[in-house]
Amino acid sequence: SDPDLVARAQRARAALGDRAFVLGHHYQRDEVIGFADVTGDSFKLAQQAAARPEAEFVVFCGVHFMAESADILTAAHQQVVLPDLAAGCSMADMAALRQVEDAWSALEAAGLAGGTVPVAYMNSSAAIKSFTGRNGGTICTSSNADRSLRWAFERGERVLFLPDQHLGRNTAVLQLGIGLDECVVWDPHKPHGGLTVEQLRDAKMVLWRGHCSVHGRFSADNVRDVRERVPGVNVLVHPECRHEVVTAADSVGSTEHIIRTLEAAPAGSSWAVGTELNLVSRLAQQHPDKQIVFLDKTVCYCSTMNRIDLPHLVWALESLVEGRVPNRIVVDDDTAHWARVALERMLALPG
Ligand code: 13P
Ligand code: SF4
Repeated sequence: SDPDLVARAQRARAALGDRAFVLGHHYQRDEVIGFADVTGDSFKLAQQAAARPEAEFVVFCGVHFMAESADILTAAHQQVVLPDLAAGCSMADMAALRQVEDAWSALEAAGLAGGTVPVAYMNSSAAIKSFTGRNGGTICTSSNADRSLRWAFERGERVLFLPDQHLGRNTAVLQLGIGLDECVVWDPHKPHGGLTVEQLRDAKMVLWRGHCSVHGRFSADNVRDVRERVPGVNVLVHPECRHEVVTAADSVGSTEHIIRTLEAAPAGSSWAVGTELNLVSRLAQQHPDKQIVFLDKTVCYCSTMNRIDLPHLVWALESLVEGRVPNRIVVDDDTAHWARVALERMLALPG
């Protein structure tokens, strides 16, 4: 990176001291992650956001839904900053509140809403988290989706899972033993989700038709190819990958799971990793004694995570030093109340 920008970031960071707390998701660029006080997956970052009440500013190097969750979980005097407001998430955008309310109305009309518990993936807007809290549901991340689903099935016979169909299906089938035929997909662009009342009634998992544009690109062919190319390779993937990818892999888990697995792997072992490329490249650099390759042969960054670059971080930090709060993320009180209820249900789940 540009040494002048690095020096400016260091100066601004030092000037802010404990007044600022910088969080960095594992998918952030190296030039940004170097300035993070804490790095983590979305679960760890949600916990950490709530853990520094003394920091006036929480600078969130991640995407919009994460910064919203941080605003919900931090104290009223703390201000959350997203260095580039265009850092959204295409998956979170696949579930709009109005669409989800339509699906819920269809469940109500069929007499099924009472037995249905909504579970929203962290990767959703604050409005969707709020809907979930208001309707008796909880949030999950990729590191606790099994526990959130078990919690939900103690309270209802069916789950409406938002918005990542793959995480919902993979967790239900591989960790809770639910049949693939007990999962149906609600398509918000079709009348009545493209489902009959009977299909909704018989389903244990009503999966929203959403996916991650990064993890959704990995295919079972990628797994076959890498096993041919790299003899003895272990395939390690994120649960946002499609079901056939996850079942063909050797290990599946959140970004923290992927990091811990590679830390514990013996020297000389080979790994093909199916997650975002910034993280895979960093892990390959950190573990030169292991062979770590990207599962796909083509480049696969998360384009919105990548929007937070050093120039944006420098601008955000220097603005704070100059007394301006740029790109503040604020969730309105009513939305925040019910979203907090849902998030706290998740945070209270036994570890
Ligand atoms: P985790 O941080 O829970 O592993 O999720 C990955 C992701 O896609 C974040 O956007
Ligand atoms: Fe969204 Fe996927 Fe990017 Fe995560 S990696 S921010 S889920 S598009």
